[in-house]
Amino acid sequence: MSSKTPYKVLCVCLGNICRSPTAEVVLRHFCDKQQLNIMIDSAGTSNYHPGKAPDERSQKHALKRGYDLSSLRARQLKAQDFLEFDLILAMDHENLFNIQALLQQAEKAYAASQIRAKIALMSEYDQNYPKQALPDPYYGGADGFERVLDQCESSSLAWVAIFEQQFKQQIDVK
Ligand code: 4NP
Repeated sequence: MSSKTPYKVLCVCLGNICRSPTAEVVLRHFCDKQQLNIMIDSAGTSNYHPGKAPDERSQKHALKRGYDLSSLRARQLKAQDFLEFDLILAMDHENLFNIQALLQQAEKAYAASQIRAKIALMSEYDQNYPKQALPDPYYGGADGFERVLDQCESSSLAWVAIFEQQFKQQIDVK
């Protein structure tokens, strides 16, 4: 990544109303804190909630820690995202599988030189939750939403350390 063009990261879960919007805002917070030139967005592998704001429970729990999710709106992951983003972070293994399947479609539709995105788990380098899924809180209670925040904070700090190394060395993440 150069100092001018932002490095672009896309956080992806199933519905884009609980985990990935939380990951987007938490990761942005830690990247901004370190003054990293990184642009962050989020999307869902499903199209269950297009245009919707994040789940009210996610918003409420996030706001208690100072993260405002209210301006975000859900959208579905699309093939062009593999051209626009440098890194796509899957919140769990099922989403990772579905992202990889969409990448295969993108590889048929576009030239190899056009595809930028690397794919990894949100927890890829997180020593507290090594390669663990970010559990889906949608059908559960308050604990699940707190767990999402705990894990997003931990995994974001791990990614920030990787991005800082990457800025220094100008090498690819994976
Ligand atoms: P997310 O959670 O993938 O973290 O946004 C979910 C949101 C909605 C549904 C499932 C998971 N749903 O089945 O509608």
